[in-house]
Amino acid sequence: MRVPLYDLKAQNGPLKAQILAAIDNVMTHQRFVMGEEIGAFESEMAAYCGAGHAVAVSSGTDALLLALMANDVRPGDEIITSPFTFFATAGVIHRLGAKPVFVDIDPETFNLAPGRLEEAISSNTKGVIPVHMYGRCAQMAEILEIAERHRLFVVEDAAQAVGARVGPGMAGAMGDVGCLSFYPTKNLSALGDAGMVLAKEGALAERMRKLRIHGSPDNSEYHEVGGNFRMDTMQAAVLSIKLKRLEEWNAKRRQNARKYQERFESSGIIGERFTPPSIPNEGHVFHQYVVRTPERGALQEHLLRNGVGCAVYYSSPLHLHPCFDGYQQGDFPESEAAAAQVLSLPVYPELPDEDIDFVADAVIRFFE
Ligand SMILES: Cc1ncc(COP(=O)(O)O)c(C=O)c1O
Repeated sequence: MRVPLYDLKAQNGPLKAQILAAIDNVMTHQRFVMGEEIGAFESEMAAYCGAGHAVAVSSGTDALLLALMANDVRPGDEIITSPFTFFATAGVIHRLGAKPVFVDIDPETFNLAPGRLEEAISSNTKGVIPVHMYGRCAQMAEILEIAERHRLFVVEDAAQAVGARVGPGMAGAMGDVGCLSFYPTKNLSALGDAGMVLAKEGALAERMRKLRIHGSPDNSEYHEVGGNFRMDTMQAAVLSIKLKRLEEWNAKRRQNARKYQERFESSGIIGERFTPPSIPNEGHVFHQYVVRTPERGALQEHLLRNGVGCAVYYSSPLHLHPCFDGYQQGDFPESEAAAAQVLSLPVYPELPDEDIDFVADAVIRFFE
C-alpha cells in the first residue's frame, strides 16, 4: 500500500465533467483574458471571505508583489515578516529594493510571534506581512493593534490559508490587503498558477486593478508602471466550481487532523521525540498537517520506505539564504529549530480513513 502526500486526481477527477463544461464555455466565447468569469469569481471570493474587494491575479507570488507595489514599497523601506515561510514572501520585498526584516516565530503555531514584533520596528518600517502558515491564522488581533499604533500597513500572506478564520475575521480579509494562492496543491486550487488580492479599501483595490494591467485601466494612458498580473479566464471558471466545495474540503482536512490526533494520543508516543500539531477549536484549515521531531531525517526515511508520502516545508529559514544579507545562524532560533524538525504528512480532504490509519501506524511503529 502507498499513501501519497497529495492526490490531485481524487479531487479533480469527480469534477472533470463540470470543469470541462466550464472550459468548453470559455472556448466558445474565446475571451481567454479578462473574460466575464474573472469578475464573477472575484465577486464570489469577496463575498466568501467577507472582503470589500477581490482582484484575481496570476499567482500568489504576484499577489504579494502587487500588494507591496500598491502600498508604495520602495528601496530603503523595511518590511517585517517571518523567516519561516515560502521564499516568495520575502522575495517580493527584495524585488522592490526593500529590506525584509525578520521576526522569529511562535513554536506552537509556526506564525510570526507578535510579542517580538515591536522590537523589529524602525523609522524605515513601512509594513508587516504576517503569514498564516500551514492554514492556521497568525495572531491577527495583536498584529493589527501594533501595526495601527505604528502606522504600518498589513499585507496578509494567506497563500496557505484560504477559508481559515481567527478572532477578527477570515484569512486575507483582516489586513489592508490579503494575498491568496490557488496553486494546484493549495486548499482551493486551479489547474495551474493563479492567485488573488483581497482589499478593504476601494481605492487600493482600484490601484491594484490598474497595476495588474501594466498600470492602465484601458491601455491608453499609463500613470504608473505595473505588470501583467492577470489570471486566465479558464482558471477563474474552474475556481468558481471548486469554491462551492471549499468549506466541505476544509472541514474534511480538520477531521483528518483530529483522527491523527486521536491515534497519536492513544498510542502514547507524544513527548520529546514526537509532537503532533495542536488543533485549535476552529479556524485552522490544515493546508499541511505538520509533526515535529528531532529525528526528522530518520522518520522521513522510514515513512518513504514504508510507502507514506511526506515532505519538509521548509528545510531552511529565509534569513540563512545567501540572497538576504545581514543575518546569521542563531538569529531566529525558533525558526531554525522548526526548519530542522518539521515533517508534513498526508491530510488532503479525500484521504480515506484506512490511509490515515496506515500513516499513523507507520509513525507509531517508528517511535515505539
Ligand atoms: C506562504 C506562501 N506565500 C506565497 C506563496 C506563493 O504562491 P504561488 O505559488 O501561487 O506564487 C506560497 C505558495 O507556495 C506560499 O506557501
